[in-house]
Formats: sequence, structure tokens, C-alpha cells
Amino acid sequence: MSLRTVFDSHPERRYIMFGGKGGLGKTTLSATTAVWLASQGKRVLVFSVDPQASLSDIFQRDIFGKGPVPIVQNLWAQEVDADRRIKDYQEEIRKKILDMYGFERVPEEIDNYIAAASAEPAMEESAIFDAVVDIIVQGDYDYYIYDLVPLGHALYYLSMAKVYDEWINKITKLREDMRQYDQVAATMRREQTIEEDRILSELTYIKERINASSSILTDRARTAFFFVVVPEEMIILDTVKAAALFSKFDVPISGYIVNRVLPAELDRGNIPAYLRNRITMQQKYLQEITTTFKQDVRAYVPEMERDVTGLPMIERLAQRLFTDDKGAA
Ligand SMILES: Nc1ncnc2c1ncn2[C@@H]1O[C@H](COP(=O)(O)OP(=O)(O)OP(=O)(O)O)[C@@H](O)[C@H]1O
Ligand SMILES: [Mg+2]
Repeated sequence: MSLRTVFDSHPERRYIMFGGKGGLGKTTLSATTAVWLASQGKRVLVFSVDPQASLSDIFQRDIFGKGPVPIVQNLWAQEVDADRRIKDYQEEIRKKILDMYGFERVPEEIDNYIAAASAEPAMEESAIFDAVVDIIVQGDYDYYIYDLVPLGHALYYLSMAKVYDEWINKITKLREDMRQYDQVAATMRREQTIEEDRILSELTYIKERINASSSILTDRARTAFFFVVVPEEMIILDTVKAAALFSKFDVPISGYIVNRVLPAELDRGNIPAYLRNRITMQQKYLQEITTTFKQDVRAYVPEMERDVTGLPMIERLAQRLFTDDKGAA
């Protein structure tokens, strides 16, 4: 089944992700797929939370931290400024503390504490996680293409979602149990109303958001996750391992895309030994890819003559990826 067939036969899979190790072509394939879907009349948002601003690079537009920016008809790109999100988080916590304790300003010790807590990686992850939830629960796009950070990190997000979810489940349960006792006690004291449990409602809110996003990301019906591989030994091995881990987190793997394949027409006539060697080596690993991933290979993407940046180049690649028979597996 080709990449195009996957999209044509599963229009309900609206959340698209390309995963893989660093530098294999995740951003390139995200942008290419986004441009192609938009050209088919779908409303598409391609987004990332990567501070590297790779979407700015590939579209040659400064979109970092600017919300959804229109690129071409039907296509928007968005790069979340994670640092900004974290600062907003800190501000929110400060405000809550001021409200709760009726301070005029946050005492220095507490402020230091907030700053230290925000420097924690968990804080950063949760700010980023929250940003992703915002994006996918709010918009009205036909497709959301999530340009992922390199593999290890993506896995970390997913595992965080699971951990958060379990943790919040436990706390919520505890709170609910406690509440029953509160109610009994209140009735015995003949109190009219019980103050609304703010913590419980906050927890429920967070839980719903996490559920919304992690269930979307792991929803077989609505999500398509593609692994990007290149014909190299270590990459193939790592991808097999990663795919096993992803399955554990219930991520629905929709196939593998083989990037940076040296064009077959190069291997004609009198070519330098160096190039011949490279081609022979690739052929060996392409063979290995076929035996490893079998019918799950969705496309072979040629190594272009230069970096893929700018719309004309992206459109050329989209043509190869979605309409040429050569691109189909
Ligand atoms: N088929 C291709 N032909 C030529 N250049 C390519 C091809 N695919 C990717 N590249 C180039 O390789 C570089 C890395 O690609 P890309 O940024 O898409 O990788 P990535 O997986 O998103 O990287 P990161 O893990 O850093 O996010 C870019 O300069 C891109 O233009
Ligand atoms: Mg990238």
C-alpha cells in the first residue's frame, strides 16, 4: 500500500506524525505531506514544539511563536515557543499564589522557588504537552501534522502522558473518596452548601485534557504514525527497537518511509567507484528494509540534489512522494 493509498483509504486518520531518529527527514516529510494534503483541498495544520524552528527553515518564513501562520491555500504552519509557554506558566502560578494568600506581591523565597521549579525538565515537558493539547483540541483543521522531535523525546512525551494519567487517576479517586466523607460530615453539621471542590475540578480538567491528547495520539482510528528510516544499518536496527517500544504505548504504526534513496538512474555508465560503492551499500540495506518491514513500507523518497527548503522544492518532493509510481512501495 502506498502512502497515497493510506491517506485515500483512511480519511478519518487526521492526526499524522512522522517519527524517527534525528536528522532523518521528519520535518521534510511533515512539510511535504502537509503541502500535498493542502493541494488536495484539505485544511491542514503542520506544527512543532521544537525550539530549533525547523518549519521556519523549510518554509523559509519566520513563523516561530506566531501562532498558526498561513503558508499556501489551506495550509497553516505553527511553531510553539516553549520558553514562552514556560514563562506564562510561571506567571500563572504567581497569580494563583497572590490570589490564594492575598499577597500584594509574591515574596522573594516563593518567587525563587517558582523559578527553580520551572527549571525542572518536568515543568518544561508539561508546558510543551499542554501546548500540544491546546492545538489539537481547539482547531478545526482536517489534518494535524505533528512534526516530532527526535525519537527518544517523542517516546518520553508518550510515556509522560501515561504516567500523568495514572497519577491523576489516583489523586482524583482519593479526592472523590474524601469528598463523600466531607459530604456526610457536612450533612451532620447541617451545613447548607459545600464549597465547590476546586482542586478536584482542576484535576478533572487536567485529566480530561491529557486524556484528550494521549487518546488522540494513540487512537488507531484517527491517528497515523509513520517511521522515517534511511538505508543504513544502525538506523534500521534502532527503528526496529523503537517500533517495538511504540507498540507498547499503543501508538498505531501506519508504516515506514524510506528516505534518501540514491536515484537508480545514477547507476549507469561510467560512474566513480565511490558512488558505485555507496549505491551497492544502499542496495544491501534496501534489501534488508524490505525483509524487515515488508508490506509496511509506504514510500521510497529519493535523495534530492540539495536540501529540501522552499515551496517549489517541497512541491517537487510531494509529487515524487504521492503521485509518481516510483515513490510507491
Ligand atoms: N530526500 C532528501 N533529499 C535531500 N535532502 C534531504 C532529504 N530529506 C531530508 N533532507 C535534508 O536533511 C536535513 C534533515 O532533514 P529534516 O530536518 O527533515 O530531519 P528531521 O528528522 O526533522 O531532523 P530533527 O531530528 O533534527 O528534527 C535537512 O537539511 C533536509 O533538507
Ligand atoms: Mg525536524
